[in-house]
Amino acid sequence: MNSNSNNEILTLSGVILGVGLVLIITVVMLFNGSSENTAGTTTGNTTTSAAPVEDINTKVASLAEPQKATVLQGHELFQGNCAQCHAVDKKVVGPALKGVEARWSSEAEIINFIKYPEKVITGGKNDYAVKLYEEYGQMMPNHDFFNDEQIKSILTYVKFEAGEEIAMKLG
Ligand code: HEC
Repeated sequence: MNSNSNNEILTLSGVILGVGLVLIITVVMLFNGSSENTAGTTTGNTTTSAAPVEDINTKVASLAEPQKATVLQGHELFQGNCAQCHAVDKKVVGPALKGVEARWSSEAEIINFIKYPEKVITGGKNDYAVKLYEEYGQMMPNHDFFNDEQIKSILTYVKFEAGEEIAMKLG
């Protein structure tokens, strides 16, 4: 009897101790977690708000003037007209544009495709364009409101963003 109730007391205090420990650990973890979270959010916010500024203006800072203006123009046109479907480094709705020049036979051919994708795809002369269309299952809209120079600036921006050398003719 006596040893039984002793055992019960022992078990009970063991349980209380255990629960107490778990509680303390939980509280400590919660406290740490919340302070980490707060710190994380603050850092996150700072980085996020700094990102767009850092992105293009800092990146082009080392470029000489004609290239810099072209890349900035290309960036702006890309953001406004292409970024909803394309990224430089990853597939979005359409293919990643990095290295695109190597997938077509000439820059003129790419420019023509960007202006008139439907014509090129349905024209029956370009197997690669047909293959792209089959792979992505969506027709890119025409961009015939752009002139060649504007499209070239987008392609230059893509190269620059991809870390490729951008060679430009002056004048
Ligand atoms: C509404 C979505 C959409 C928009 C906007 C769009 N594209 Fe596309 N793009 C596609 C899709 C989808 C493909 C895959 C081919 C196809 O089916 O048209 C493609 C293919 C391409 C290709 C061929 C890629 C390769 O890997 O050979 C180029 C180059 C391209 N787009 C450039 C552009 C540029 C530059 C702009 C902006 C001026 C633009 N696209 C805007 C959806 C879009």
